[in-house]
Amino acid sequence: MSDKEKLYEGKAKILYKGSRPNTIIQYFKDDATAFNNVKKGTIAGKGIINNKITELVMTRLGQIGIATHFIERLSDREQLCHAVQIIPLEVIVRNTVAGTMAKKFGIEEGTRLSRPIIEFSLKDDALGDPIIPENHILALEITTDEEMIEILETTAKINDFLRGLFAGIGLELIDFKLEYGRFNGEDGEQYLVLADEFSPDNCRLWDFETREKMDKDRFRRDLGGEVEAYQEVARRLGISLETEDK
Ligand code: C5P
Repeated sequence: MSDKEKLYEGKAKILYKGSRPNTIIQYFKDDATAFNNVKKGTIAGKGIINNKITELVMTRLGQIGIATHFIERLSDREQLCHAVQIIPLEVIVRNTVAGTMAKKFGIEEGTRLSRPIIEFSLKDDALGDPIIPENHILALEITTDEEMIEILETTAKINDFLRGLFAGIGLELIDFKLEYGRFNGEDGEQYLVLADEFSPDNCRLWDFETREKMDKDRFRRDLGGEVEAYQEVARRLGISLETEDK
């Protein structure tokens, strides 16, 4: 990777300049962090699994008409994407109470919600990614009104689709995080597209029958078996983890 121009190194991914204009390469690392970088470790092979799961999810979402930044997977750990201007929001969807919501309201984890919640956090590590209400986002001009409407509609559609996709392989989609970006089309128009990744690093997936956690909570909570859990999610999605790199 040394011949590629590094644009940014995050906690789980490195971004390089792509070979074509206005593209980037997402390189998926095995590094895992939690609680805003307080807990650090690695999950062996995670980068390969998350690259392939993200490819599958982005491709399927593209097939139902959701615009994404994803172009193609290049190798075990790399994927080519359109360069976008990331909107600095974490868009969080909750179908079932878990994590910070369970803690904040003292509600038992696993309590199913009567309807999904979409909430936002400001992407700012120094501030600890604080929750930000919609009226703050609009007043601070982090998005336009039109973008907010599109984010809410697209996110609801993604949730409906992904809940079904994971239910079909015996997994309950408890919650997840999305990021969106602005993409400058060749027609001079700006489009909202789904960016970043979708993997067990940024969602919660529980086995429907056993309610066993199959996501990053295994790492966050020292439950062990994180490699096996990520591999099992990939296996159920029909993803081969055989290396394709030479
Ligand atoms: O932390 P919390 O319980 O609110 O997380 C809700 C969902 O959003 C989880 O699936 C978690 O993995 C994801 N998330 C994330 N990145 C963050 C915060 C939350 O992927 N910075």
